[in-house]
Amino acid sequence: MPPFAPFLSLLIAFIGTTSADIFMANASLPDSWVDGQPINAAGQAFWVGGSPSTYCPSIVGANCPDATAQTIIIAGFSALDVEVPGGQQIYVNVNGALGFTQAHSAVVPTGAYIGGFFNLTYMSDCSTPRTVINWKSPDGSSEGILACPTKPSGPNVTVSYQLYAKTPAFNLTNCDGGVPVDGLTATYLSSPAPYGAWQYV
Ligand SMILES: *[C@@H]1O[C@H](CO)[C@@H](O)[C@H](O)[C@H]1NC(C)=O
Ligand SMILES: *[C@@H]1O[C@H](CO)[C@@H](O)[C@H](O)[C@H]1NC(C)=O
Ligand SMILES: *[C@@H]1O[C@H](CO)[C@@H](O)[C@H](O)[C@H]1NC(C)=O
Ligand SMILES: *[C@@H]1O[C@H](CO)[C@@H](O)[C@H](O)[C@H]1NC(C)=O
Repeated sequence: MPPFAPFLSLLIAFIGTTSADIFMANASLPDSWVDGQPINAAGQAFWVGGSPSTYCPSIVGANCPDATAQTIIIAGFSALDVEVPGGQQIYVNVNGALGFTQAHSAVVPTGAYIGGFFNLTYMSDCSTPRTVINWKSPDGSSEGILACPTKPSGPNVTVSYQLYAKTPAFNLTNCDGGVPVDGLTATYLSSPAPYGAWQYV
């Protein structure tokens, strides 16, 4: 590795293009329906399952990257793997809902958390250690990631599960029928990896 490599990868991660930390995230909760479900960005939020919601302006035309089937995340869950200049940063709303900045904007909602994601390794006598990505509030008072239904389940009702971090203000009563996952499994892509999309919307 050339001597400038660490600086270069830091810089590149910051501007949201390529880095050594490029991955797709899936929900982790062994023996649950939610285990292995892909995490996707859409509508300024993150969801369990479904598809990413992407956009590329017509002016970019033939240079638009092909959007991948699953959302690609970079740099320790801090940003989306997009080609749009400026990138798109990931944040956690005060109420816990994960979100991401719109293209061409650095605006995050008031009080939103930047960062807080960390690698958590589960040790067990009966299986090999498992590392997942989890979230902890800056003061360490609350921790965890949940998949919360957006409407009550019922016959013929398709329920979408939205991803939340357990922030201090997270109100569990908003997550009836939800699933506290034990984290998100990252599948790392080798660098250079393709962009996940021009931008997520
Ligand atoms: C994540 O989800 C995708 C899409 O369903 C699947 O192809 C992949 O195997 C999953 N990865 C893990 C680690 O569960
Ligand atoms: C988790 O570990 C990987 C591999 O060491 C590292 O690249 C990544 O940044 C870490 N993620 C977080 C959220 O700390
Ligand atoms: C659910 O959908 C099926 C097929 O459209 C219909 O026969 C059934 O009555 C519906 N059940 C309820 C509770 O709406
Ligand atoms: C959650 O929020 C609702 C509505 O704001 C409130 O009535 C309820 O007491 C809160 N529950 C908890 C556990 O804070």
